[in-house]
Amino acid sequence: MAVRPKPTMLSLARLGGLFVTMVVAIFGQTVHPVGNIFDAQATPAESIYRLSVLVLAVCAAIFVVVAGLLTFTIVRFRRRTDDSREPAQVYGSNRIELAWTVIPILIVLVLTMATARSVVAIQNKRIPADALQVTVIGHQWWWEFRYLNLGVVTANELHVPVSTAAKPALTFLKLESADVAHSFWVPQLSGKTDLIPNRTNSMWIDPRQEGTFLGNCAEFCGMQHANMLLRVIVESPADFEKWAAAQKLDASYDSRLDVARSSFLSLSCISCHTVSGTPASGTFGPDLSHLMSRTTLGSGVIPNTPENLRAWVKEPQAIKPGCLMPDMQLDLRELDEVVTYLSSLK
Ligand code: CUA
Repeated sequence: MAVRPKPTMLSLARLGGLFVTMVVAIFGQTVHPVGNIFDAQATPAESIYRLSVLVLAVCAAIFVVVAGLLTFTIVRFRRRTDDSREPAQVYGSNRIELAWTVIPILIVLVLTMATARSVVAIQNKRIPADALQVTVIGHQWWWEFRYLNLGVVTANELHVPVSTAAKPALTFLKLESADVAHSFWVPQLSGKTDLIPNRTNSMWIDPRQEGTFLGNCAEFCGMQHANMLLRVIVESPADFEKWAAAQKLDASYDSRLDVARSSFLSLSCISCHTVSGTPASGTFGPDLSHLMSRTTLGSGVIPNTPENLRAWVKEPQAIKPGCLMPDMQLDLRELDEVVTYLSSLK
């Protein structure tokens, strides 16, 4: 019989090295941070957090009891060399069987009721008439945000006002999809809700803290699913009003950029992108009217810097392989002009 060598520190280290190599090979790209689910900053997330603490506590208690009894039994009734008697054979006990049937049923019942209470409290929330209404449309692989009552359209970065005790502000999201199923998930604000073609789902958030909250698409939706990132930017009511007022305006116009502008408008970019106040009115890709007000490009894949914008326009497939924006094969002059014009869209 072959003798299996004992794992030595060296072979363990090798195994660890192999694991690290594999992880690097699989996740060669940047690993995007995920919001902390234990740091809830809105009512729906808070309710999910409290429920998960209850479930974790109940499961921990069950684990301690089961593992404790198991350990006790293994130690107390282990085989002893001086004792060859057969242990007592028990064939069924009504009391024990009743106990291990009734107790789990009660535990499951409690967890079901607690879950149902959270679900109902979130779903049946009365949406105030003055709530901010946003339609969220999932696309492969970016997010479209349409502010119905404000006439604002943007992408990938959802701006909402902060909700305080003095001035509660609730944002109601209608979730739709342009292609396949996606899922809207910002862990610190709410649970996941799917965006399904030919169906409208909804959810609401009332963020209590200003700042940027990171989210991801949480439903596998194709090649760039992992790079379908989203940001919720929570602002003071004044900052939000300022942002909305700027977004409502037509794209900025500067006569000194006429050459760059007409170059952009002569290219097929305009059949997929909208720039308000120009003939560019495509809706297949993100609205670019105020591109420079966004902090990232490619749905959160890279920061919106001048170098990155140029690299993105030149060769989006190198940055987000498989994305639906083709490499436009622009010559150097066209590339310069397109980037110059896009950079002016404040
Ligand atoms: Cu969209 Cu995954």
